[in-house]
Amino acid sequence: MATSPNEQVRLAELVAAISLATDLGTGQPMEHALRTCHLSMGLAREVDATVQDLSDTYYVSLLRFLGCTAEASADAAFNAGDDISLYEGLAPSFMGGAFEVMGWMWRHLAEGQPPLTRGRAVLGALTDPKGAERSIRAHCEVGEMLARRIGLGAPALRALGSTFERWDGKGLPNGIAGEEIPASCRIVIVARDFELLNRVWGPETATRILLERKGKAYEPRVLEAALRLGPRLLAEIEDGSLWDTVLEAEPGPPLTVDEPRIDDVLGAFAHFTDLKSPFLYGHSTGVADLAEQVSMSGAPDLDASLLRRAGLVHDLGRVAVPSGIWNKEGPLSDGQWERVRLHSYYTERILVRCGPLGKLAEVASSHHERMDGSGYHRRSKAPSLTAATRLLATADMFRAMTEPRPHRSSLSPSHAADELNRACREGKLDVLSARAVLEAAGETRKPGRSAWPEGLTDREVEVLRLLATGLSNKHIARRLTVSPKTVGRHVEHIYGKIGVSTRAGATLFAMEQGLVGA
Ligand SMILES: [Fe+2]
Repeated sequence: MATSPNEQVRLAELVAAISLATDLGTGQPMEHALRTCHLSMGLAREVDATVQDLSDTYYVSLLRFLGCTAEASADAAFNAGDDISLYEGLAPSFMGGAFEVMGWMWRHLAEGQPPLTRGRAVLGALTDPKGAERSIRAHCEVGEMLARRIGLGAPALRALGSTFERWDGKGLPNGIAGEEIPASCRIVIVARDFELLNRVWGPETATRILLERKGKAYEPRVLEAALRLGPRLLAEIEDGSLWDTVLEAEPGPPLTVDEPRIDDVLGAFAHFTDLKSPFLYGHSTGVADLAEQVSMSGAPDLDASLLRRAGLVHDLGRVAVPSGIWNKEGPLSDGQWERVRLHSYYTERILVRCGPLGKLAEVASSHHERMDGSGYHRRSKAPSLTAATRLLATADMFRAMTEPRPHRSSLSPSHAADELNRACREGKLDVLSARAVLEAAGETRKPGRSAWPEGLTDREVEVLRLLATGLSNKHIARRLTVSPKTVGRHVEHIYGKIGVSTRAGATLFAMEQGLVGA
């Protein structure tokens, strides 16, 4: 990882890396967003997009699904625990409109589950017509907030808020129409569906469906360009490195991130990951803080910056596993464990592709390895685990134990210390790392705050924290012994003060401000 304060990395490389994670989080093969980007840039040039629109098209095509974890847990609950198969299944129908979406739900929602579970899921969908709007609004708002932290400009942010709109005004979240929809969105929407439908259903069916949606979901001029050029653009990327092709396609002088700002970008990646489950809020930043603190105080020969950054991205691969698994109260089945064990592998594959993040891959993806070979995903043993990998694994375990999980509440720091020492005695953890983590954990208690952000009151912070756990207004009211109406008023004030319109946006704000998490 770059350490010189003057060093810069290309924003496109970091964005391409997170696009691999959004592919996994939406049930698409890795490089789906890269393929969409290649197509989008070809179409943008064909329709004579402006310089600004070319740049926006590039970044919007890569970041369109940056908000995909915003409602992952709620959407998973809607589909028998599996948000990913829901997103994957709905993808070809989504821009076909409400009728197609409902048809898919009727046939496939909670597929494979007992009839009663399926019946409940379908009934839930039919009786909650606002569900899709809620999910998309949250997706757009969170995507926009994360992209702002990554460093995108105002036009691209606005476009990210409109990527599910339709040319005929029947899209979400705001129902804007025609040229009110940013040009970059109109291009990316067509390019994405062209790639997806051709891959899933083949060219003949894809062309028929795309034409049926002409002038409805898609701008006619862009669709015509796609039908003309799309097959050639897709054929171009069958050989060679699509990663390199996409990096070369960035229009204008490449956007860069200064060395000190890289932590901000990776901080956004951390929040993107932790939104996957309410049990994970603040986990990645907590591990990063702890690992950095240890390497700065107890182990000066370790690279504190590398450890911090590895902590921020260590769980990126979690987004490839359905939220229902992370949120499951009971024991996991063997099959579910297999999926869990893959998450560190996915972290490795996302990072290893990206030049500036490649150096983090080994440390970040080894956080579940254990000294005795009982960990995953490589089942490495002590001799092949470096001091940095041992430290991150120990920090991750300690931090996880102090956070609630579906099957247990959070352990007190002293109980977590006992568990860490027990893991050392069993030969699973490195004794020196455990000692350093426990020492640092005693020093990293956050100081009290003198004021809340954005002028929030004590009571509003209390409500915001409960809101972020997923409680309804009614349940928050019961917890605070006030009326639901009072809670509703608080929520309205909170949203106004922090500038969001969805619970997922408020949750992300709370995470960014360190108001949730252990
Ligand atoms: Fe993990």
